[in-house]
Amino acid sequence: MSARLSFLVCLGLGLTGSAPGFADLGSQSAGFYTKAQAARGARVFEQACAGCHTVDRDAPLPPGRPGLEPIELSGREFTQKWHSVAGLYHKSRWTMPSDAILSLDVDAYLAVTAYLLEANGFPPGNTPLVEDDAAMKEMVLVPAPPDTERVSGDIAAGFYTAEQAMRGKAYFTGSCQTCHLAGQPDATRGGGSEPSPGPGISMGSQLIVMPLMGQGLLEYRHSVGDLYLKTRTTMPIEYPDALSEQSYLDIVAYLLQAKGYPAGERELTGDLEAMRAMTLPEEGFRTLFNGSNFAGLRFLLGSGCEPRPLGCGSTDPGTTFRIEKGAIYISGRPSGYVYTERKFLNFTLRLDLRYVPYVGMESESDYYSNTGILLFVKEHRVWPKSLEVQGVYPWALSILPIDTEAAFTSNAHVRRSAMRPLGEWNSVEVVSKGGEVWVSLNGQLVTTVTEHEFEEPGHLGFQSEGASVYLRNIRIAEH
Ligand code: HEC
Ligand code: HEC
Repeated sequence: MSARLSFLVCLGLGLTGSAPGFADLGSQSAGFYTKAQAARGARVFEQACAGCHTVDRDAPLPPGRPGLEPIELSGREFTQKWHSVAGLYHKSRWTMPSDAILSLDVDAYLAVTAYLLEANGFPPGNTPLVEDDAAMKEMVLVPAPPDTERVSGDIAAGFYTAEQAMRGKAYFTGSCQTCHLAGQPDATRGGGSEPSPGPGISMGSQLIVMPLMGQGLLEYRHSVGDLYLKTRTTMPIEYPDALSEQSYLDIVAYLLQAKGYPAGERELTGDLEAMRAMTLPEEGFRTLFNGSNFAGLRFLLGSGCEPRPLGCGSTDPGTTFRIEKGAIYISGRPSGYVYTERKFLNFTLRLDLRYVPYVGMESESDYYSNTGILLFVKEHRVWPKSLEVQGVYPWALSILPIDTEAAFTSNAHVRRSAMRPLGEWNSVEVVSKGGEVWVSLNGQLVTTVTEHEFEEPGHLGFQSEGASVYLRNIRIAEH
């Protein structure tokens, strides 16, 4: 036990200093396995693996499988597939030998993993490798990215770096490609650089390779956070949650690249809140707010005001609108709104909305908040002629016609049951089509507008009106 602890301490020191490279790991007294363990592993390999594998490219082909090239389990291309010992170990533990899965005992799987580490130049140490998930995830086989790339703050335009996606591609090849294509099938047929997948997921007598990042996936996972969590908690399907944190992040970076999202200057990090504000718009949608700056948006603040220089209104975000971890924070003072430069008439608008509970609140019936979404704004003033989708709590998503009239119904019962507890994110959808408007909360239709006067495209506005709220993942499709 104490030997194990001292090993972890050693590794900890290695990791908190400068990033450990191959050589740094070698210079530490502790490796991830013992020499004796690797020697046992060599015998396991001979018996259970060598029929299909080799760790030496130049070795003569094994007897018994003439004509079949053995798959090499050594070399740079192989080691690049595993961020930590966890990925390598679990791949063997749950899927190998492929003709007799789970046929070895745990010690044999550990030993053969030790042997593969040794064969790939990772030095032995004084403590044997044991089946301890958390510890294995810490046994990093590749250097971590330099600390400077991990600084969090505003999210850069890209969600990941090109280098991260490259690492992710190797990890994907090691742990996912058995069952998945990263992009769409057509992309590979066109001679894309994706590794060839397979053998696939067994569905009855067929083996199916499942493309990721297609329309189906993005229809109900609309942020990087959703994609990450799905992957992190359920994949690889045979040994979920078994890879290191860095592997999952790098794989997600690769999936984003495969989908065509551009790389940026900063690595994707494990900040879940920030990841949940990184919008992955559904097919046909695009983002109205990029999470890092206010490009495409304008402002008007000041009760009763029109914009400067003619009016009294400020056109700066000031302290009223701020970006926090990829979300727009609206302070509520003074009154005003942020609006889209572009105009829309027939559209589906989707966004996440969060009310901020206040100190001293005893129950949700105490709570009052206010904001709103202004539709069809033509001329700017606080408040402009528009159809307001109410954000006022507790009557959210009802309609307030400003300087106009409208016929609508709003279902208070549905609203109450659909609204998430205060402080949690709600998803809001506004559909405008052919002179009617439908508003849904968390997938449930709350309000229907059957008549209004607006026939021209107008700006979309989001109100600051006396209470703190957050908005994120604002996206729109036009139809
Ligand atoms: C009957 C043939 C067969 C046997 C025996 C076998 N494997 Fe495999 N192994 C495969 C095939 C086929 C693949 C590639 C498909 C995949 O990744 O599932 C593979 C892939 C692997 C990989 C991933 C290689 C990479 O570069 O992605 C590892 C690691 C591995 N095997 C370890 C082992 C170990 C350890 C044993 C012995 C305990 C073993 N295998 C026994 C057929 C076999
Ligand atoms: C042995 C086969 C297998 C492996 C290996 C595997 N997956 Fe999967 N994956 C599946 C199956 C089956 C599903 C569908 C069922 C589900 O969603 O859980 C799936 C679903 C997914 C989905 C959701 C797709 C959607 O449209 O909803 C994602 C994302 C995903 N996998 C990512 C990964 C990643 C990343 C890896 C590697 C770390 C991986 N998978 C490894 C079998 C596999």
